[in-house]
Amino acid sequence: MGLKERVLTRYIPQHIAIIMDGNGRWAKKRNMPRTYGHKKGSENLKNIALACNDLGIKALSVYAFSTENWKRPKAEIDYLMGLPKEFEETFKGQFEEHDIKVMFSGRRDRFPKDVIELMNRVEDKTKDRQGLVLNICFDYGSHTEMIHAIRDISRQVKDGDITLDDIDVDLVTNHLYTKDLPPLDLLIRTSGEMRISNYLLWQLAYSELYFAKVHWPAFNQKQLLKAIDDFQSRNRRFGGLKEGK
Ligand code: IPE
Ligand code: IPE
Ligand code: MG
Repeated sequence: MGLKERVLTRYIPQHIAIIMDGNGRWAKKRNMPRTYGHKKGSENLKNIALACNDLGIKALSVYAFSTENWKRPKAEIDYLMGLPKEFEETFKGQFEEHDIKVMFSGRRDRFPKDVIELMNRVEDKTKDRQGLVLNICFDYGSHTEMIHAIRDISRQVKDGDITLDDIDVDLVTNHLYTKDLPPLDLLIRTSGEMRISNYLLWQLAYSELYFAKVHWPAFNQKQLLKAIDDFQSRNRRFGGLKEGK
């Protein structure tokens, strides 16, 4: 049995997140500018999103730009700001064909106006689609996400709409960008770094972690299947003693 067939006989993760890291190093190794790595990384996102959709995964969250990535040189930031448009123009046909829905998570107040308009337009156009949900985290930081949730909830308490006792795991979960997505089963980080870099801290509570050595532009369908195969061999206990008990 091939790897894909084997993976398909077992539990398919509902929600996978990927820290798409290593674009710059991938390009530098090829004597190319870092922006070339981002271009290839963006193309790879299309391939991996289609592969996830094909496997029946419900949601794919990807870390495309962090709240800390604004520290980078302006030229690199400018290039990255152009990618959503390029992504949309190049892949809209295939995403439509496969009924893929696109949403963006993160702050939306620090981008150029045309980028914000594009994000809103893409979300609106794809909102009723039934295939994979591709959740692109752009100017995303988990700390910021939680601060927004804390502010929202505090406001509701202050206004008397809820009491302190109403604050529980479900309430907080429902104030995050990911509120409409299934629980996060698996986090993959490429490039060999073993850190979370302010990504989905709340959602990761019981997710399985997988670190791939390859840089993001080189992470292909086979690597994805290997990660899922590894995930399927884990014994998830959620604090109990045995799977499902
Ligand atoms: C990930 O690749 C993409 C972004 C953070 C925008 P990097 O740009 O971090 O590439 P490396 O890690 O420096 O190689
Ligand atoms: C995390 O990668 C953010 C994205 C992949 C978008 P970074 O390259 O920014 O993370 P650090 O700086 O290595 O922790
Ligand atoms: Mg990096």
